[in-house]
Amino acid sequence: MEIIVQSDAEHATELAARIISTRIRERPTLVLGLATGRTMERIYERLADMHRNGLDFSGCSSFNLDEYIGLEPDDPNSYRATMQRLLFDHVNFAPGRTHVPDGHATDIKRAARDYEAAIRAAGGIGLQLLGIGETGHIGFNEPLSALMSRTRDKTLTPRTREQNAPLFGGNPDAVPKRALTMGVGTILEAEEILLVATGPAKAEILARAFEGPLTASISASALQLHPRCRVIADEAAAARLANRSYYDFVFFNEPEWERYRDSGFIN
Ligand code: F6R
Repeated sequence: MEIIVQSDAEHATELAARIISTRIRERPTLVLGLATGRTMERIYERLADMHRNGLDFSGCSSFNLDEYIGLEPDDPNSYRATMQRLLFDHVNFAPGRTHVPDGHATDIKRAARDYEAAIRAAGGIGLQLLGIGETGHIGFNEPLSALMSRTRDKTLTPRTREQNAPLFGGNPDAVPKRALTMGVGTILEAEEILLVATGPAKAEILARAFEGPLTASISASALQLHPRCRVIADEAAAARLANRSYYDFVFFNEPEWERYRDSGFIN
């Protein structure tokens, strides 16, 4: 695992977008694992800009992490509608190549199995983009999610419903109680993982997840097991990290990061 700290959210999300675009150029048939949430909004905006400047998604496919259960598919708060609005309507994925779990299915367990099968049929996820919730969730894997869990329905914590309330008119009770989410085990099978965290509300959970012990109480801590996982944080989210100077040393000395160390990214 590597943790890269950038000065602010703008630089953190810009770096994430640049890494994603590099991977797409390196492998035009890349299978992307995508997340929703406020942290992702600027990343998708930048990917849409990059597409206007030639970044080609036509050979790529995508699988989103999760979807609320019970919202109508055209509900503007559904993650399908959100992804259309933020990214899919602005780039050139081929028709049928973007996938979001079917939170409106009558048979949710079957929808979960079908989603896993579709990921396998696509050859697995090449690059998985993640945010982190204040409970330490990745996708909607709330505390005590099995570290080997697969796509399934999950009950959200009251804290997550509060965290997401601003998107539902500020009312936590309007946030659905359940979601269909890739499991921790599903996420860990991605070839490469990029987790982005910004803002002071993420500072404590970031330190506990990545510098604390591996525990099912913090799903994101399972990423410590992944051989190719990078965390990009802004200063505010990195504020509680104990080994910060070492992370900076790695970023400034590791050859892989050389192309990203231009003046726009100096802390
Ligand atoms: C949503 C998802 C969640 C979010 C997390 C952070 O698809 O995967 O794990 O990434 O809740 O959300 P924000 O970015 O809104 O703080």
